[in-house]
Amino acid sequence: MTITKPTSKPANPNFSSGPCAKRPGWSVDALKDAATGRSHRSAPGKKKLAEVIERSRAILGVPDDYKIGIVPASDTGAVEMALWSLLGARGVEVLAWESFGKGWVTDVVKQLKLDDVTVREAPYGEIVDLSQVDFSRDVVFTWNGTTSGAKVPNGDWIAADREGLVIADATSAAFAMDLPWDKLDVVTYSWQKVMGGEAAHGMLILSPRAVERLETYTPKWPLPKIFRMTKAGKLIDGIFRGATINTPSMIAVEDALDGLKWAESIDGLEGLKARSEANLKAIAAWVEASDWAAFLAEDETIRSNTSVCLKVKEPAFVAQDAKTQTTALKLLAQLLDDEGVAYDIGGYRDAPAGLRIWAGATVETADLEALFPWLDWAFAQVKI
Ligand SMILES: Cc1ncc(COP(=O)(O)O)c(C=O)c1O
Repeated sequence: MTITKPTSKPANPNFSSGPCAKRPGWSVDALKDAATGRSHRSAPGKKKLAEVIERSRAILGVPDDYKIGIVPASDTGAVEMALWSLLGARGVEVLAWESFGKGWVTDVVKQLKLDDVTVREAPYGEIVDLSQVDFSRDVVFTWNGTTSGAKVPNGDWIAADREGLVIADATSAAFAMDLPWDKLDVVTYSWQKVMGGEAAHGMLILSPRAVERLETYTPKWPLPKIFRMTKAGKLIDGIFRGATINTPSMIAVEDALDGLKWAESIDGLEGLKARSEANLKAIAAWVEASDWAAFLAEDETIRSNTSVCLKVKEPAFVAQDAKTQTTALKLLAQLLDDEGVAYDIGGYRDAPAGLRIWAGATVETADLEALFPWLDWAFAQVKI
């Protein structure tokens, strides 16, 4: 069957999983009030940084007694600060089901070289058996596996009376999924993900229990300045009021504020979640009707509503070796890129052959609807 080339294209072809699409209607005008050329420690600079923290707190529903800091090096920086500063006080469980989670396993096992570590891993598209996790130990996991499209279904599996700390890399979950703050001690994310902000800065959220650990435990390894959150055994509180450790980009700060104000204008977290869930629903309806595409995460309860990962189910395609499949899907993504229809939808380099389509709140459902016929057309061009 030949498929006619579609004629109408998505108004916004940005479907990347990070940096993610800007909010609808964004233009550089959103940055015109940026405190450019000013010190981040000036009164206007500090005010803007504090405003990012407080607007984020309100939208995400972060409890008042949790600390929120703007930190260097995006989500990676935030996670590394947490791992290097907090781990080693007790045994650790690290849960991983895709590339980023596996990266945290490497940090804990090979870099920090902790000796009492349990690693629980699951293949792409699945998650680990959460009932096995021992909460007398510290637990490190990725809430939503951006490269596999598999997330934890909720926080019910996390013990309320845990002894260890629960550290969640929530970069592709925050602002798109409910995060049960009472079950989480450290939560990290970056501006460039769900809110479509600029890269470089991360957010680090700490529960009172995490702060207590910071103030009572000193790791046996040295900590670079960029990771240090305490001074003489006390939390450096300023970090969590906008006095960043080092210099942030005031343009990125302005852009983060723009995203947060947009979120407020669409009913905050509820509005963000609704847009993202509607996007997943639209993709699911197309997948359901498709004779070639399927979700990498087969179990609906763990299927991501932000980083949606697809595989090919067509038998003739699946029968090919992995390299042939990957090459064909790279070509598919390139065809759509060349057409100006979809950018950056190739599967992650370490993931099984597939496509990855961002479905967070900044993506318009109408743009996904416009993309689907193009996916069918492009698959027909590359199919083996
Ligand atoms: C789950 C997860 N963790 C960490 C990162 C790294 O984020 P960043 O590049 O913002 O440091 C990403 C980026 O995609 C991610 O998806």
